[in-house]
Amino acid sequence: MTQKSFPIAAEFIAAANTSPEQYSKEYQQSIESPDANANFWAQRAELIDWIKKPTKIRDVSYDVNDFRIKWFEDGELNLSVNCLDRHLKDNPYKPAIIWEGDHPSLHKIISFKELHAAVCRLGNALRKRGVEKGDRVTLYLPMIPEAMIAMLACARIGAVHSVVFGGFSAESLGNRLIDSQSKIVITADEGVRGNKHTPLKANVDRALDMDGTESVTNVIVVHRTGNSVPMSGRRDVWYHSLVDGESVHCEPEVMNAEDPLFLLYTSGSTGKPKGVVHTTGGYLTYALSTFRDVFDIKDNDVYWCTADVGWITGHTYATYAPLANGTTTLMFEGVPEYPTWARIGHIIDKHSVTVLYTAPTAIRAMMKEGDAFVRESDRSSLRLLGSVGEPINPEAWDWYYHVVGDGRCPIVDTWWQTETGGILMAPLPGADHLKPGAAMNPLYGIKPEIIDGDGEILQGAAEGNLLINSSWPGQMRTVYNDHKRFLATYFSDYPGYYFTGDGAQRDEDGHYWITGRVDDVLNVSGHRLGTAEIESSVVAHPATAEAAIVGMPHEIRGTGVCAFVILKSGEEATKSLKTELNRHVRAEIGPIANLDAIYIVDALPKTRSGKIMRRILRSLAAGKYDGLGDLSTLADSSVIVELIDIVKAER
Ligand code: PRX
Repeated sequence: MTQKSFPIAAEFIAAANTSPEQYSKEYQQSIESPDANANFWAQRAELIDWIKKPTKIRDVSYDVNDFRIKWFEDGELNLSVNCLDRHLKDNPYKPAIIWEGDHPSLHKIISFKELHAAVCRLGNALRKRGVEKGDRVTLYLPMIPEAMIAMLACARIGAVHSVVFGGFSAESLGNRLIDSQSKIVITADEGVRGNKHTPLKANVDRALDMDGTESVTNVIVVHRTGNSVPMSGRRDVWYHSLVDGESVHCEPEVMNAEDPLFLLYTSGSTGKPKGVVHTTGGYLTYALSTFRDVFDIKDNDVYWCTADVGWITGHTYATYAPLANGTTTLMFEGVPEYPTWARIGHIIDKHSVTVLYTAPTAIRAMMKEGDAFVRESDRSSLRLLGSVGEPINPEAWDWYYHVVGDGRCPIVDTWWQTETGGILMAPLPGADHLKPGAAMNPLYGIKPEIIDGDGEILQGAAEGNLLINSSWPGQMRTVYNDHKRFLATYFSDYPGYYFTGDGAQRDEDGHYWITGRVDDVLNVSGHRLGTAEIESSVVAHPATAEAAIVGMPHEIRGTGVCAFVILKSGEEATKSLKTELNRHVRAEIGPIANLDAIYIVDALPKTRSGKIMRRILRSLAAGKYDGLGDLSTLADSSVIVELIDIVKAER
């Protein structure tokens, strides 16, 4: 924890949506009692347009034997109407999406009216293909407007979308299709990032060869690069020919507030990725309300969230919250280094971006290339910066603040998760000062608690596991097809609380600092990977007998992936085998699962009951060989000496 703290400039505070007094007063009110909490959210629900206004606001019990999370349960609405139709009267020609292509010569501006028309056309086309309310539709798309159009079209007709990040492999896509039993896949011929092409359609074809994907009846293909891709019989259809001639009116499906809006797969500490289910009314209320508060949004903001739509940030804060609020959202297809590391700054200037929301991994990567690239741009339009995905180290925070933001723009460090649907902690700009690396304060209605190893809730300055002692409308409702796993993962270890899987510190001033995952989930470049998932992929390689995966410090990715591998007898620990193992894992899961270090070992440190002591492997992977803690439960302590020798020799 750094002691430095930064006040926010007086001009910013004068114009800010939230004052310190307002935050403290409303925050206290919002958590005072369940009734006060319900009142708070009833007021916030006024921000959205309901077909039928809810009268029942909150019905929540975290008791696993009598479990309920229901918000606005008798309310009815359509989410796409909130993002589109309601802006048509006053702002039809306001840009809804500014799309910046991979190559700097490409951009498109899509007004709310045009977006509405595109969504309606696709909604109608999907209905004609037999998609009904509740059916699942998988989107496997690059960062092109059709990704947002498809999400909104699903919301319009009540289909449940499952967006799969375009960087995931065919096999990862296939597993998600099998779990969700999707009817339709929407993809593109190819994706383009940094002038490199990704074979999305070919990946879909491979995924659909997997047993269990027979539910998919159609693949809709966006023409992005025009390179030839195989189109199979009646199953595959071009997006443009499908929507061509469709009406620009599409009757919105009436959705109950608790009807599912989307599934999004995310990694957990055990087993396969789980389908996080978010519902309609609570999610939208929470997304919109937090968006306004945290980003201090004004009517003329040009807001740019760099997250891919394949992640929760791309759902909530690139798509739904800005569009529901009538805010222009910028969508970027490419990468920060193409054509040069000056790209982010050039885009800010080109489109007069006012709010930039990005991840520490991108900030560190740009920082490493030096200030000169950023200084090629003027960035005078910027007024607020945001960070998300992992703890931001003070050096990166400083650079973001002083170089990207020229020392003018507050940074909102936003802590949240796929499961939470929206931000739970952040310094509301104007309501508090900033501390580099701290998520600072809970948002309205959020009651964090810190618990120690003995299960005691701690008061005052403290460090331990982070729990939430309240419900909020945007929280996930279940794991798709596996409600038991939902209860076991989040509500069983600490009865009565939501367990976040993160550790946190609360400082003397009551501010929160997230210290990182306390379970077997790795946070690589701000994206979640389960150690169990990677281990099973490594072990699936014919040369491997056993593997243990742990995180290790990584300069750019924050956390890197480190593998300790035992080979089958007769296999040789060659450099080419290591390369082959890495290729295998990247192909099975996706390039984000890159193995940054591979140590071939004869044995793993295990307890007498056979459990791998990951704590030891984590220390070794970080280059810490002393102070390995209590080794008395190790079955064979001589293993440690061998491991240290191997790691030392190769680091
Ligand atoms: O460990 C926390 C970290 O990212 C995890 C959630 O990952 P995911 O579900 O992929 O969602 C990422 C985007 C919301 C959390 O459990 N995390 C996220 N934001 C922060 C963070 N850690 C520290 N500071 C943050 N601002």
